[in-house]
Amino acid sequence: MKHFTSLEDAGEPGPLVRSALALKQKPFQPGLAAGKKVGLIFLNPSLRTRLSSQVAAQNLGAEAIVLDIGKDGWALEFDDGVTMNGDKAEHIREAAAVMGRYFDVLGVRTFPELKDKEADYSETLLSAFVAYAGIPVVSLESATRHPLQSLADLVTIQEHWKENRRPKVVLTWAPHIKALPQAVPNSFVEWIKGAEVDLVVTNPEGYDLAPEFINGVEVVHDQKEALKGADFVYVKNWSSYEQYGQILGEYEGWTFGNEHLAMTNNARVMHCLPVRRNLVIKDEVLDGPNAIHLDQSENRVYAAQAVFKKLLES
Ligand code: CP
Repeated sequence: MKHFTSLEDAGEPGPLVRSALALKQKPFQPGLAAGKKVGLIFLNPSLRTRLSSQVAAQNLGAEAIVLDIGKDGWALEFDDGVTMNGDKAEHIREAAAVMGRYFDVLGVRTFPELKDKEADYSETLLSAFVAYAGIPVVSLESATRHPLQSLADLVTIQEHWKENRRPKVVLTWAPHIKALPQAVPNSFVEWIKGAEVDLVVTNPEGYDLAPEFINGVEVVHDQKEALKGADFVYVKNWSSYEQYGQILGEYEGWTFGNEHLAMTNNARVMHCLPVRRNLVIKDEVLDGPNAIHLDQSENRVYAAQAVFKKLLES
C-alpha cells in the first residue's frame, strides 16, 4: 500500500479490519513507529479525524504534527502555469514537497466545493498532495471519499455482528439544513459492497449517489420498504449528486426516529458524526440502546492506527 485515499489503494478491507481489531486489543505499541513523524494537514474543520489520527500516531510511538493550513498556512495555489499575483502565496508543488521532507506520512483533509461536479470528482487537491509530497498520503476525507471513516465503520459492524448469517445493512439518507458532501456515503458503499452483507441504500428521488459508487447496489426510494429487516442502519445526509450540491426539499419524514427503528430487525444505528440531533436522528435513538455511533468514533483511532502502521512498515 503506497497511499490510503480509496479502497483501490488499500486493496481489500479484510486485513486492515483485522489489524484494527487487533490494535484495539493492544493499542499502545510505541515500538512500531518510534521516531516517525506524521503530518496532519487540515483545510477544513474536524474533531474526530484530527484527534483520532493524533492518538493513533502516538499509540504507535510516532509524533503527530497538525497544521490547520486553511487558517495558519499560506493560501495555496493548486493551478499550474498561473502567475501568482493574487492572494495565494504558495504553490502546492512547493508546499507538499516541503511537507514530504519533514514527515514520514502525510494526512490531508479536504472538502468539495459542491459547485463543480467534475472538479470535485477529479480530486484535484488530494491528487496534488499525492503527486508532490513524495511520501505516503492518507486521506483524512477528500472531496469524494472518507476511507478512514469507512474502515472504522466496517470494524464497528464486525464487532457488533455475532450471528451466523449475512446482516442486512441499510444506508439511509436523512435531512440537513446545509449541503453536505457525498464523501461518507460514497466511501461507505465503496468499502462495504464487496463484504458479506446485504446492502440497500435508500434516499429520496434525486439523491442517488454517483454511478461509480452506486452501480451494482440495490437502491430503494421507499425508505419504509428499505428498512424492513435491517440489522444495521447507517443514517447520513448528503447533497444531490444529480443536481450537484443542491438540497432538493425538506423531507421531514426521513429524520430517523423510533418509528423508523421499529421497522427494522432491532437494528444498530450508525452515524459518522457530527450529527444534528432531531434533524438527522432523533434524541430517542441517539440516546437509546441501539445507537453505536460512539463505537464508530472510538474505532476511528484503530482504523487510523492500522493504516499508519501499514504505511510506516512499508
Ligand atoms: N466523522 C468525521 O470525520 O468527523 P470530523 O469531521 O469531526 O473529523
